[in-house]
Amino acid sequence: MEQYVIKGGNRLNGEIEIGGAKNAALAILAASIMTDETVTIENLPNVRDINVLLQAIEEIGAKVERVDAHKVKINGSFIRDVSVDNEFIRRIRASYYLIGALLGKYKKAEVALPGGCDIGSRPIDLHIKGFRAMGATVDIAHGLVIAEAERLSGTHIYMDKVSVGATINIMMAAAMAEGKTVIENAAKEPHVVDVANFLNSMGAKIRGAGTDVIRIKGVERFGDCQYSIIPDQIEAGTFMTAAVATKGDIMIKNVIPKHLEAISAKLIEIGAEVVEFDDAVRVSATKRLESTNIKTLPYPGFPTDMQPQMAVTLALSNGTSVISESIFENRFRYVDELTKMGATIQVDGRTAIISGVEGFTGADVHAPDLRAGAALVIAGLSAKGFTTVSDIGYIYRGYEQFEQKLKQLGGEIQLVNNEKEVAKFKLKIG
Ligand code: UD1
Repeated sequence: MEQYVIKGGNRLNGEIEIGGAKNAALAILAASIMTDETVTIENLPNVRDINVLLQAIEEIGAKVERVDAHKVKINGSFIRDVSVDNEFIRRIRASYYLIGALLGKYKKAEVALPGGCDIGSRPIDLHIKGFRAMGATVDIAHGLVIAEAERLSGTHIYMDKVSVGATINIMMAAAMAEGKTVIENAAKEPHVVDVANFLNSMGAKIRGAGTDVIRIKGVERFGDCQYSIIPDQIEAGTFMTAAVATKGDIMIKNVIPKHLEAISAKLIEIGAEVVEFDDAVRVSATKRLESTNIKTLPYPGFPTDMQPQMAVTLALSNGTSVISESIFENRFRYVDELTKMGATIQVDGRTAIISGVEGFTGADVHAPDLRAGAALVIAGLSAKGFTTVSDIGYIYRGYEQFEQKLKQLGGEIQLVNNEKEVAKFKLKIG
């Protein structure tokens, strides 16, 4: 019964360091098995999804040497099996990257259908369409995606919808296909660029990542490389909203401020202060903030993975805010929990209408998914009294040392395992 117990009310102040981007790292780890040489990956976030993926690639024969918590060496030359399935891999979304990686390298892959947070229906039709366009046969049977190709050929692919996962997956397979591939209407997220840079460091020929047309010239084999993953835009954004919601002042280090622009712009618009440095942002708020409207969009728009954290901030602001969720249809499941803390939010389909309140009151809530879990922790830190957040396994999937970092900033938060420990925390903190 792991949960967080929080005593809210402290302004978060101080400095923290952001880790490597989880969503870039997942794709990069999968891509790292495409070479038979050793690759070294640095700035790896030490979070649960990463460890599940590392275990999966080890299970199919790759040599995985964890140099330290944030550095790993991988050698894919020992892979003896292209079938990836275990109970853990079925729970993560990014398992789908192993399809592109294995199909590209071995022209065959059998990977458990992806799981991930329940934030809406999450089909992989665009991934499959891309692989088929390159000449693969793709079937789904016994809960596995089975992809096979005699020859994988470069082609012209127009993505019906902007999809981060499909763009990266097709890019990986195409990097080892014969001839040229053009992906149009590609996703432009920073981690798409990071994965392209990683593949290029191994010898791939990819141009245009970060724009909506990516051009790939297939190569036969990749070499070795040493690569450092970009900072996590969403972890940084989460701490930015934590600063604002608690009326604190946080220097968030090891970030790329450009990747945070959509978040910074909204925080500035509602009255927070955001100061950009070369590789840091300082975020503070001294007064009650104002309302605004937000629509989640693919990069460079406002990220859907920041929607719940921003909703918490707006629920404490002055006036009425409207959030439109245009990426996933089921991403307001945290609203019932936030309502227990005094928030006033009405959800109608993909729109949430938030009437700002003066403050939250602590309550017992549960995390419905990863980002909403982090948002509820922020709500707890800004609430009056005690909050417990349960189902925090979700939070471990994407945040490294979340409670330690919050404690470092002055947050009263403790990981507890039973009611006795909750009572002990309440007695100690008073
Ligand atoms: C990735 C991120 C996730 C983030 C999301 C959007 C990972 C592991 N996860 O998820 O944290 O919230 O990007 O930034 O990197 N779609 C289809 N068919 C497909 C693929 C996607 O219809 O084959 C739809 C989805 O349902 C969604 C939209 O396209 O409505 C965007 O999804 P996509 O960008 O693919 O998200 P994920 O890769 O699942």
